[in-house]
Amino acid sequence: MLVTIDNVLTPDELTTARELLSRSRWDSGLITAGPQAATAKNNQQLAEDAEHLPALRRMVLDALNRDPIFFAAALPLKILPPFFNRYAGEANTYGFHTDNAMRLVPGMAGTYVRADVSATLFLSDPEDYEGGVLTIEDTFGSHGVKGKAGSLVVYPSSSIHAVSPVTRGERVACFMFMQSMVRDPGQRRLLYDMDMALLQLRQDVGESEPVVRLTGTYHNLLRRWAEN
Ligand code: NI
Repeated sequence: MLVTIDNVLTPDELTTARELLSRSRWDSGLITAGPQAATAKNNQQLAEDAEHLPALRRMVLDALNRDPIFFAAALPLKILPPFFNRYAGEANTYGFHTDNAMRLVPGMAGTYVRADVSATLFLSDPEDYEGGVLTIEDTFGSHGVKGKAGSLVVYPSSSIHAVSPVTRGERVACFMFMQSMVRDPGQRRLLYDMDMALLQLRQDVGESEPVVRLTGTYHNLLRRWAEN
């Protein structure tokens, strides 16, 4: 399941994020790639000790926390601190790869988070760069995404994905991994579909008795499948 959510960042947050990133030093993107991904990865990334990284991470996590669609799609249990990357010039692409299943929590030796869900938050306007399409392959086929600035795409970490070469301008984005309360992507999808349908029903008919019952069923399914 691939879910795109617009306006995850407000215009003000987007301006601040771009401003902080424009004043940051970019390092090689190899710092977070596993051995297999490293052979495909050629981009730049904000170093762990970058001055503005804590503020940028806080901003993104706050934005995710207030977004009910993100919650419904990812059912996040643990979100790793977000990373920021840049594709431009010679460092402009990331070939097909899969994300590592288990990821070390930065600064917490020996503590792992299982990556169930990956997400990319687009920070550059799509008109400002050529190429840089995020292609995600999964059981649902192959999908190319070039999101609006401030929008987020959420997809299973188990998918194979790539970013095509940026041939003009620069593509700056934030990417992140999270462990979901619901490990199985099929179960997550059922819950998401049900949650979205309930949202619509609530708008259409209000909190009618069947809506209350179905909401109960949603939570009972979540109770059955969630782990923490
Ligand atoms: Ni990846």
